[in-house]
Amino acid sequence: MKIQIIYYSKYGSTQEIAQAMGRKLKTATVVDVRELQEITGDLLVIGSAIYSEVPHKDIERLLVDKEGQLQDKPVALFAVCLRKTYITSKIGEGGGPVYIKKMERALGRPPVASMIFGGRMIVDELDPEDRERTESFAKRQGMPFKDVNVMADSEVDEFIEDITAKTAR
Ligand SMILES: Cc1cc2nc3c(=O)[nH]c(=O)nc-3n(C[C@H](O)[C@H](O)[C@H](O)COP(=O)(O)O)c2cc1C
Repeated sequence: MKIQIIYYSKYGSTQEIAQAMGRKLKTATVVDVRELQEITGDLLVIGSAIYSEVPHKDIERLLVDKEGQLQDKPVALFAVCLRKTYITSKIGEGGGPVYIKKMERALGRPPVASMIFGGRMIVDELDPEDRERTESFAKRQGMPFKDVNVMADSEVDEFIEDITAKTAR
């Protein structure tokens, strides 16, 4: 089965996860959604980093799939974020399960598998707008504004095992 991994990554952590998946899945190709020419896989693994509670609009658009580009092919979804667990507060609900739900809703059908990955944020790499946004968010939440890295190689293996188990015939 040909697997095509399509991702959006601004600062590189989602790209690293997609590429690690690509290395472990022998027949996979890995493509940045901004460079996507055509859907070539029989199984599509589609992932986005989460910025301000939502997946990137290019991934959202791909999942909504107005043009029928995905051809109803099976899709596995992944989100990369810092807040992996569900949270509810005055400003609403958030966290990994909420982000994955948003992606599932955009897709409009159940994914074959889905996974929430821990990501990474390096303060000095952020562009001024993102820095301002994340810094004021941290302040409002009473959290320190500093580098965070919650990436774990084991999550890539776990996702691949899940995809493999669910697509084995
Ligand atoms: C502007 C901005 C907004 C973010 N918003 C969220 C968020 O709402 N929830 C969350 O869990 N992580 C959030 N993050 C953290 C990113 O999801 C995390 O750093 C991710 O690993 C970035 O992926 P990338 O390196 O592929 O760009 C945000 C990061 C930035 C820069």
